[in-house]
Amino acid sequence: MSLDATTLVDAQNGLVDRSIFIDPDIYQQEQEQIFARCWLFLCHESQIPNPGDFFSTYMGEDPILVTRQSNGKIGAFLNVCRHRGNRVCRADSGNANAFICAYHGWTYGTDGKLIAVPSLKEAYYDELDTSKWGLAPVAQVDSYKGLVFGTFDPSAPSLKDYLGEMAWYLDAFFDRREGGTEAMPGMHKWVVPCNWKLAADNFCGDGYHVAWTHLAAMQVGMSQTTNAGRADTGGKVVAPGNGHVISCLGPNDPTDPPMPALLGYDERHREEVRQRLGPRIDLITPIVGTVFPNFSLLRSTSQSFRVWHPRGPDHIEVWSWGYVDKAASQEEKAAYRLAVARGFSPSGTFEQDDMDNWQECTNSARGVVSRRLPLNIQMGVGHEEFHEDYMSRVSDYRYSEMGHRTYYGRWARMMSAQNWSEL
Ligand code: FES
Ligand SMILES: [Fe+2]
Repeated sequence: MSLDATTLVDAQNGLVDRSIFIDPDIYQQEQEQIFARCWLFLCHESQIPNPGDFFSTYMGEDPILVTRQSNGKIGAFLNVCRHRGNRVCRADSGNANAFICAYHGWTYGTDGKLIAVPSLKEAYYDELDTSKWGLAPVAQVDSYKGLVFGTFDPSAPSLKDYLGEMAWYLDAFFDRREGGTEAMPGMHKWVVPCNWKLAADNFCGDGYHVAWTHLAAMQVGMSQTTNAGRADTGGKVVAPGNGHVISCLGPNDPTDPPMPALLGYDERHREEVRQRLGPRIDLITPIVGTVFPNFSLLRSTSQSFRVWHPRGPDHIEVWSWGYVDKAASQEEKAAYRLAVARGFSPSGTFEQDDMDNWQECTNSARGVVSRRLPLNIQMGVGHEEFHEDYMSRVSDYRYSEMGHRTYYGRWARMMSAQNWSEL
């Protein structure tokens, strides 16, 4: 009998039971109810441009192989050999005609089909129906503005419906200029001893922490985007629906990373961005957010998107990519790359500040007595409403935990709902 997670989150009054950050049974239920059903980020299209290109990743704890097939379509499969379960493709990425399992040599095509079995004639007497033993496909695969997603659930809504109004906010990160964006070559992967939701909720709507957590970085000029003492310039937390959340600065707040080559970049391209995104971009500047459940995006101090892969209740693997407008110059692209390394990467100034807090929030949930005390996400309760100009629920003030209430409310419903219509 699974646990009714709606008893653990009081989204209306802003209370969260801390067992959700440490309890192994809840973690298992998350794997079933969330990671085996939601649309999860797989990779950026620019990472697999040519037939035969592949990228290895995970959906929850399930290993996944994403391929560009000979017909140009993107496929995604469980990266698990159908013979005796070995992980088939061990390389992070590359180009291949076929994938040969290291254990006994079963071989799969880029379309997942089982195309060769050693000693098929002699040892299997030609009686193995190879058409039935291809790699198991991910039920639905689709992409939006270069971002490739997959879901294991054939009954999940389309990616378009799953993203809903969040699509416009994704455009504000990934489709600002002609040609959209490209992932920077290479990526960062590292382990943080924290629960995956603490990272996801920080990115969805926590402008509040910036001036404190990142005080040292702000003081040495690593970011020009915010400080606690500055006048409110119209920032908002925005909840476009389905558990997705975005944090926004005011429309005229500077967001360029403090790199000589990038100062004034946004201003120089303001008109192009307005042409593409419409009048909403004159109201707010989206800078950080989370696509439910574990895909987060960031622009301003540096431009990075990342997946928080769960690895047990108290660990994550962060997989993080830098990204740039395709239309940016080589010099600007090089500067963005440096900004990512300096700000948001395993050794990045901001990233290190954040990881430390998430780790301690996780550790304190181990204590049986501390666990009896709920988390408080009450900031701004009642000071938020649906606003047509944003087509979303919006906080009145730039600091609000409305995003956290939205995120954990969705988490609890997703954990309990038996099907999508119950959401
Ligand atoms: S486990 Fe893959 S060939 Fe045997
Ligand atoms: Fe932070």
